[in-house]
Amino acid sequence: MDTTVNEPVLSVRGLSKSFTLHTQGGTVIEAFADLDIAVRPGECLALHGPSGAGKSTLLRALYANYKPCSGSIIVKHGNSQVDMATASPRAVLSVRHSTMGYVSQFLRVIPRVSCLDIVAERLSLHGEKDDAAREKAGELLARLRIPKGLWNLAPATFSGGEQQRVNIARGFIRHYPILLLDEPTASLDAANRETVVALIREARSAGSAVIGIFHDEAVRDAVADRVFTLRPH
Ligand SMILES: Nc1ncnc2c1ncn2[C@@H]1O[C@H](COP(=O)(O)OP(=O)(O)O)[C@@H](O)[C@H]1O
Ligand SMILES: [Mg+2]
Repeated sequence: MDTTVNEPVLSVRGLSKSFTLHTQGGTVIEAFADLDIAVRPGECLALHGPSGAGKSTLLRALYANYKPCSGSIIVKHGNSQVDMATASPRAVLSVRHSTMGYVSQFLRVIPRVSCLDIVAERLSLHGEKDDAAREKAGELLARLRIPKGLWNLAPATFSGGEQQRVNIARGFIRHYPILLLDEPTASLDAANRETVVALIREARSAGSAVIGIFHDEAVRDAVADRVFTLRPH
């Protein structure tokens, strides 16, 4: 039996983050302090707390978009461990490539790249042939109800909900052992919310550890098995 199966894939210890606003008299804003979190394969942890409590900042720190002030973020990366709080840029890219997926709240639109290619690229980067990658990307975009007529267009002109679904397709097109989700259903209709709930459940069944912010209580109840509450400071 593999005894490593139930060990956390992500362990956060003593994590703190504050922002110093140099342009505003050096005001310090504390986003969160001294957090301890552990997530195992197949678990889904929901981050909870009022607006401004630090939920998005925490996800960004886990993805190494923000550097924490103190603490560690140990990620199981293949057979090794990486501390995302101190990792080199190269190690961060390696973790993002194969271990950690992140669905941000808003799609960062890339000019001129079609939505089909934005999604398919995630498979091409892992060696999948372009045709096969595009076919799988199309299947997921269809599942998320993006009309076929939009697949070859760049998403810059898409509605907020359409852009969010392209973002979700990009995050779910391949398996990541750790998946970070920032309000993935915030601007979706009921049918697409249900599709995203199904995608999250499928990812968990495949062994992904999910950490998500779900402003919709019904979605949170449907996908999460634990809640971690952040308090505003
Ligand atoms: N880049 C930044 N610079 C300064 N303050 C920030 C920055 N990002 C977030 N904050 C502040 O950190 C706090 C937490 O924000 P955020 O993580 O976005 O909250 P939530 O996602 O829980 O609504 C807020 O007070 C916000 O103003
Ligand atoms: Mg947020």
